[in-house]
Amino acid sequence: MPTTPANAGVVRYLVFSGSLREGSLNTRLARLAAGVIEAHGGQVDTAAMSDFDAPSFDQDAQTESGLPAGALEFQRRLEVTDAVVIASPEYNASMPGVLKNAIDWVSRVRPQPFNERHCLLMSASPSMVGGNRGLWALRVPLEHLGSRVYPDMFSLAQAHLALDDGGQIASDSLRDRFEAVIVNFMSLAEASKHYPCMKSAWIEFLGERPDPALDAAAIPASAQVAGR
Ligand code: FNR
Repeated sequence: MPTTPANAGVVRYLVFSGSLREGSLNTRLARLAAGVIEAHGGQVDTAAMSDFDAPSFDQDAQTESGLPAGALEFQRRLEVTDAVVIASPEYNASMPGVLKNAIDWVSRVRPQPFNERHCLLMSASPSMVGGNRGLWALRVPLEHLGSRVYPDMFSLAQAHLALDDGGQIASDSLRDRFEAVIVNFMSLAEASKHYPCMKSAWIEFLGERPDPALDAAAIPASAQVAGR
């Protein structure tokens, strides 16, 4: 009989910022997202964009040497995660080149690691649009590669003012919205991983013993958002 890893029921999230900058607003937002995920029972792997940095994609270089170290690291960490959260800066109404470059490198891997992976996008910017246009650009390659990009996104406008000295989102209503988007995304990622209906059907028809570690829907009541 196959054995079940102890953490098989836990949903794993790769969380990273698309900025290389020291003191990045998006890195601060990514850290806040990681905290919310952990507070609601998710397992977080926090990465830095520098972990995935790679030379500009060159198909000749790929043919000669394969993927560079940063791309291999991105691939490795994608393959062991269930879902991805990216906080990305907006550069000239689009995504940072370093992030697109990393995606392009990893897209060469087969099986292609973005395929069917759930993804939540967020952004922070000093501007009034909060970097939101860049997220629409970022959706394009991710969806093209088969990622399940969550419909809701979160963009923090005037982020240099919106984050307080403690690094938290100062406005109660914005903080509630931020947490709700993440928790709702977690519900989807969790359901996708465990398929609660299928699981109960298996228990019913195959006589499996219920296992609370695997029977999904293990989201604490505090994490459930009314109306979703
Ligand atoms: C920017 N910035 C920016 N902001 C924005 O809201 N819309 C935009 O189109 C751009 N374009 C842009 C281009 C380039 C080349 C730079 C360097 C910056 C401002 C950017 O959002 C701001 O610097 C953020 O603070 C960058 O994110 P991090 O590094 O703080 O996470």
